[in-house]
Amino acid sequence: MTDIDRKTARDAEARRILATNDRGGYTVPNDGVYPFQWNWDSAFVAIGFAVYDEDRAWRELETLFLGQWADGMVPSIVFHRESDRYYPGPAAWGTHQEPPTTGISQPPVAATAARAVWNRSARSAESRARLTALFPKLLASHRWWHETRDPDGTGLVTVTHPWETGRDNSPDWDAPLAGVTPTVDVSALRKDNKVVDPKERPTDDFYNRVMTLVEEAKALNWDGPAVARNLSLRVCDIGVQSILMRGDRDLIAIAEELGLSEPAAELRRRLDRSLAAFGRLKAPDGSYRSLDLRTGLHAPAISSGSMLPLYARALSVEDAADAVATLARWDEAVPYGVPSTDPAFPGFDPLRYWRGPIWLVVNRMIADGLAGYGYAAEAKRLTALSRELVLERGFPEYFDPRTGEGLGGRDFSWTAAMWLAWLSDENAASILTEVRA
Ligand code: GLC
Repeated sequence: MTDIDRKTARDAEARRILATNDRGGYTVPNDGVYPFQWNWDSAFVAIGFAVYDEDRAWRELETLFLGQWADGMVPSIVFHRESDRYYPGPAAWGTHQEPPTTGISQPPVAATAARAVWNRSARSAESRARLTALFPKLLASHRWWHETRDPDGTGLVTVTHPWETGRDNSPDWDAPLAGVTPTVDVSALRKDNKVVDPKERPTDDFYNRVMTLVEEAKALNWDGPAVARNLSLRVCDIGVQSILMRGDRDLIAIAEELGLSEPAAELRRRLDRSLAAFGRLKAPDGSYRSLDLRTGLHAPAISSGSMLPLYARALSVEDAADAVATLARWDEAVPYGVPSTDPAFPGFDPLRYWRGPIWLVVNRMIADGLAGYGYAAEAKRLTALSRELVLERGFPEYFDPRTGEGLGGRDFSWTAAMWLAWLSDENAASILTEVRA
C-alpha cells in the first residue's frame, strides 16, 4: 500500500469507528470495555466529529451535559442506558442522579472542545445558538472546580479519586492511595480484567482502595464540599489542574466571542489565582508534578502529566525549556512517545495502564503545548510519530512506547478522533486552538 492509500484507509476506518461507537447522540469509548459516555473521551470525540459533522460534534457535548449535576459537576461517566458489561455501574456509585452517573468528574476538556468545534463550525446562527446554550453549563462546571474543589480558594483544585484524573493508574496515586485503608473487596465484581489481559489492567488491591473512596463519598451523600474536605485521598493532579487552566483560557475566549464580559473577567481572576499558585506544583528537581494535599509531598515520578503545564501555558520560558529537555531524554530512552511515566523511573511499566504506555489524546495536548511555546520542530516530530503509530497499528486504546504495539481495547473512539482532528493531515498546523504562551 502506498502512504496515500494507508492514509485513506485510516480516514475511512476512523469514521467507521465513530459511527460504530455512536449510541445516538453520544459515543462510547469502545464497544467492549466501556459501554457508556465518558466525560473527557466525549470532549475529544467532539473535536473529531467537528471535522466532518458539526451537528454531531455539538450533540456529543450536549449529551455529556445532560449528566451535569445541580452543583455544576460534570460526572466522569453518564450511564444513559443500562449495560451489565461494566463495573462499577450505577448501583455501586449510588448517586441517585437522573440520568444515572458516577459521583466524580474527569479532566475538563469540554470548554476547549467547544471552542474547537466553534472554530471549525459554519459560524451560522445555529452554531452560535448551540455555543450560547452550552456556555452557562461550561461556566458552571469551571466554577465547580474552582469553588467546590478549592474550598479555601488556594488556586489549586482537589481531586478525590484517581479516576477523576483520567490517568487512572499512574504512579502519582501510589502514595495517596497507600493512605486509604481498604474496607471493601470487589475483586469478584470486576469485569475489565476478564475482557482485557490482566497484565494491562490495575490490580485488585488498587480496585479495593478506589472503591473504598466511593464508599466514603456515599457516606457523605456525595455532598460536594464535604467530599472535597474529607475524603482520604486529596491531591492536586498536575493533569486536571493544567487542563482546567487551559479550559479557562478557552472559556474566556468563548465568553469574549459571545460578548459576555463579566464571566470573562471572573474566569480571568480565577485563572490568575491558579497561575499564582502553580509554583506549588514544582518539585525540588524543577519538574512539575501532582501534589498530595494531605501530606504536602510531590508525586514520585515525572509523568506525561508533567508536560501538560505547557498545554495550559502555565510555565515560564525557562521551565518550558526544562520540560522540553525531559521530553528529549525520553526520546532517547524509548522509540515512541510520549510515555505516560518517565522511562527512567523504577516503576515504569510499558504495558500497564498509565505507568508507561502512550495515549494519543495526551500527545495531542503536549504537541499543542510545544507549539504554543514556539517549539515547532518538536511539535511536528511528535505529530509525525503519533501519525506513524496509527498508520502502523490502527486505533487501539493506547500504545507500547518500546514497540509501538497497540494495547488495551480496540477500535477506540478518542484514538480515531485524534486521527481525524489532528493526524490525518500530515501538515496540519491546526493543533487545537491558538493560545500563545
Ligand atoms: C480509562 C482511562 C480514562 C478514560 C476511560 C475511557 O478509564 O484511564 O482516562 O476516560 O478509560 O476511555
